[in-house]
Amino acid sequence: MTRIRTICVATSLVLGLVTGLAGQTRITVQTDRPGAAIRPTMWGIFFEDINFGADGGLYAELVKNRSFEFPDNIMGWSRILRDGSEGYIYVETYPERQVNAHFLRMKVDDTGRGFGVANDGFRGMGIREGKDYRFRVRARVSEGGPMALRIELAGRSRRPLAEAKLEGFGSQWQEYTAVLRAGRTEEKARLNLFVEGSGTLDLDMVSLFPVDTWKGRENGLRADLVQMLAEMKPGFLRFPGGCIVEGRTLDVRYQWKTTIGDPADRKLIVNRWNTEFNHRLTPDYYQSFGLGFYEYFLLSEDLGAEPMPIINCGMACQFNTGELAPMDELGPYVQDALDLIEFANGPADSEWGRKRAEMGHPEPFGLKLLGIGNEQWGPQYIERYKVFVKAIKDQYPEIQLIAATGSDATIFPNGRQEIDYLWSQFRRLDADIVDEHFYRRPDWFLDSARLYDDYPRDGSEIFVGEYGAQSIGVASPDNRNNWHCALSEAAFMTGLERNADLVTMSCYAPLFCHVDGWQWRPDLIWFDNLRVFGTPNYYVQKLFSLNRGDRVLPVEVTEPAKASNGEPRFYASSAYDESSNEMVLKVVNATNEAIRATIEAKGIRAVGAQARVTVLAGDSLTDENSFETPEKIAPVESKIPVRSAEFGYHFQPYSLTIIRLMCQRP
Ligand code: AHR
Repeated sequence: MTRIRTICVATSLVLGLVTGLAGQTRITVQTDRPGAAIRPTMWGIFFEDINFGADGGLYAELVKNRSFEFPDNIMGWSRILRDGSEGYIYVETYPERQVNAHFLRMKVDDTGRGFGVANDGFRGMGIREGKDYRFRVRARVSEGGPMALRIELAGRSRRPLAEAKLEGFGSQWQEYTAVLRAGRTEEKARLNLFVEGSGTLDLDMVSLFPVDTWKGRENGLRADLVQMLAEMKPGFLRFPGGCIVEGRTLDVRYQWKTTIGDPADRKLIVNRWNTEFNHRLTPDYYQSFGLGFYEYFLLSEDLGAEPMPIINCGMACQFNTGELAPMDELGPYVQDALDLIEFANGPADSEWGRKRAEMGHPEPFGLKLLGIGNEQWGPQYIERYKVFVKAIKDQYPEIQLIAATGSDATIFPNGRQEIDYLWSQFRRLDADIVDEHFYRRPDWFLDSARLYDDYPRDGSEIFVGEYGAQSIGVASPDNRNNWHCALSEAAFMTGLERNADLVTMSCYAPLFCHVDGWQWRPDLIWFDNLRVFGTPNYYVQKLFSLNRGDRVLPVEVTEPAKASNGEPRFYASSAYDESSNEMVLKVVNATNEAIRATIEAKGIRAVGAQARVTVLAGDSLTDENSFETPEKIAPVESKIPVRSAEFGYHFQPYSLTIIRLMCQRP
């Protein structure tokens, strides 16, 4: 009997009126008809230095403006002038250096009760009790002396968290190192450098890293943040952006060549997110490139993810200036792309392969994917895209190139029209892979699980390269990473999986967010200087990735609950996992009612006695995770007895459920 269920007002406002057939929903999975292969790249991650994602985040450096290259050279630093001390500080320039040409000069007449400089870090420095921190500095005494430097990690109380002393500075630049062990934990510590002796002491590349970085690397990454990524087992890593690839103008575009080699020689530039949003101005946001292209390739390798660099194609961000490199000046941009491929894949005795080898990686990184621009549109993009494709394919036909389709059709000028134009060109040009972005309200994601069902299958693969449900509006500062958004993304992802013959890669955006340094929300992973938590959206991404499977299995859902617009609010997709011989069924119940369904695994000869079940569910659509309750919404695993290929299951209200059933196909 058909029963129309009217759901409570609060829910209907969010999800629309839902109708369904209690107890009559049937999910049929054709385990004997495995379809398209699901690529290992299906579920990946996209890293951009936004929200203090790199400097202040993943890159474990704790000192902000360590080489005094911010345009306000002293930003992040302050003078310590205690009773009786006399002296001053200023920024000087090396006459011989073009890049990173500044250093700090401290002229001290009397140190009194303390003279020196302090650095605040990136909204403070996270310091942990019992952990070691490596301090490095380039220093010289240019006048007077002898002079020494007392290094102090300071917190809220007068007693330092850790102390060390460096002395014996000569008149020539030299690097000095000290390791400090912290006696207490502090989320917002600072670094104090006290001068001892009188004279002139010059400092540069003042650096403080935890010794325990990811894999213990000296120019390393924050281990807890990388761990979150590693646990997702991402299929690829898209980097470094995003809009920072384009830059507001071409002279501040991302240039990979300035991000490799000795970190002291990497040329700092402004971060495009510094002034992007008036509601979240971040005047101290720059790119030191301590986390540069070599480190991105290394991270991809560590994660077992395909590296996917995105390169500037001679166009500045079209949301900003849209500055264009003239066609007859595109050569250096194209050469950068070719050299990047050689840097990643070339032999250790090639020009750029040698630089990789010198940095410690003689083996190639195995680059297979490359994005031509981030969000570009218009004929100007097509004419530049063609030049890149020709040059790259001539030399490296094996590299798969990713074409951009502007941004989300709803947020850039003439959106749909522009995207249709781009698609018509890409079809003509037989593009390898086309990148689509979606930043929309949760209901759009719920309504769009069938988006790719009817897309033409005529050559180009699709990469859903950026998406995220926006609870209020695109990049609204009030957006929340709530369960409503995460659940709607899960519903959409069942559609991506069902269409894995066409959609071969996808990833959420943005990835990281510092609680005190963000510009854009929502974001997948939130952190402060000491802690990190995954949002419900993170767990959705992680569960899809960990339960990818190898082949799409056809699924039919009869009598699914529907919204008043006729779109389903109950979704299913399935995959066959060849290594474990399991049917992997993903079901999203986006209604506020438990739905009892019959599941039929058609074509199975015998089933294992139990199925493994993982449920991600929230009590309310407004539920969120936080530092205090990081796992309010987190996967819960169980096992259920299964005696035949047809069995019943109660899908919780507002839930993503993954059922893995060991099966023998005939
Ligand atoms: O993910 C945030 C931004 O959104 C990306 O930098 C850009 O590509 C998109 O507009």
